[in-house]
Amino acid sequence: MVIYCVGIDLGGTTIKAGIVDEDYRIVKSGAVPTVTDRGAQGLVGDMKELVSSLLEETGISMEEIASVGLGVPGTANKKTGVMEYANNLNMKDEPLIPLLKRYFKKPVSFTNDANAAAWGEYLAGCGKGYASMVMVTLGTGIGGGMILDGKLYEGCNFAAGEFGHFVIQYDGEICNCGRRGCFETYASATGLRRMALKAMKEEEGRRSLLWSLCGQDEDKVDGQKIFEAARRGDLTAESVVERYLYYLSVGITDIINIFQPEVLCIGGGVSRAKDQLLEPLKRLVDQQVYTRDSAVKTEIVIASLGNDAGIIGAAMLDD
Ligand code: BGC
Repeated sequence: MVIYCVGIDLGGTTIKAGIVDEDYRIVKSGAVPTVTDRGAQGLVGDMKELVSSLLEETGISMEEIASVGLGVPGTANKKTGVMEYANNLNMKDEPLIPLLKRYFKKPVSFTNDANAAAWGEYLAGCGKGYASMVMVTLGTGIGGGMILDGKLYEGCNFAAGEFGHFVIQYDGEICNCGRRGCFETYASATGLRRMALKAMKEEEGRRSLLWSLCGQDEDKVDGQKIFEAARRGDLTAESVVERYLYYLSVGITDIINIFQPEVLCIGGGVSRAKDQLLEPLKRLVDQQVYTRDSAVKTEIVIASLGNDAGIIGAAMLDD
């Protein structure tokens, strides 16, 4: 009998889940919107329905599922199974794991979403074969995961690697964690979008290609459209992307200066811009990083599992 594991990735905008086989391949995945107003019960109810529909569609039975893993956008206390804090969901102290265990009656593992993505990339993606890898996810927020000497490092309270919340701009934009100037407020997909919307309303921005790409509806502006407009030579988008890349490079340089991992892997929605993001980022980091003249340097890469990294990593957690 083939054994599968279920990976669930609770995100700021969607809950993604997948059935993963022993070769780290996703057999089937799906997503539903993240709705937080019914608390932990509501979230777990939506996860249950999503997983049930995947099992139904594939004909895989619950007996063939060995375990379930969950990644969450905040502090995942492994000991208690409680999501202690998730700033982007505006949630605190949610007992997600006890509720999931009650339904699945299987071992359920728990970690931060970026840790799950890091673990997935480490096992089956761009971190394969290395001893140290740091993952940075650029989505609704900025997440961080660290694999040091082959082990996921989570800190004494499961909150290590909160790269999104170090300050890169003194007294800068307010972050929903309560501080000002956090890396996340500038270099997440949300930060990129905020800068683009502001620029689109300025004198030159009113003529920007971005307006037609989003059908004059500013709710439709997203990272993909911003990078596309920049690629097509739109001056507003070009200058937003240039500023965005500079902020991103400042944070990434700091992370490399601290860890000097063999690989630094960039994931999350914004990483879909691939080389348009990677090449200028590498150049900017090279100018700033402490080790710019060293023989051995961190390699910066784009996540090879894309948005699946979190599902695969959550499914493959081993505790
Ligand atoms: C949270 C992290 C999370 C990241 C990505 C940040 O705002 O603090 O825990 O990993 O967003 O979801």
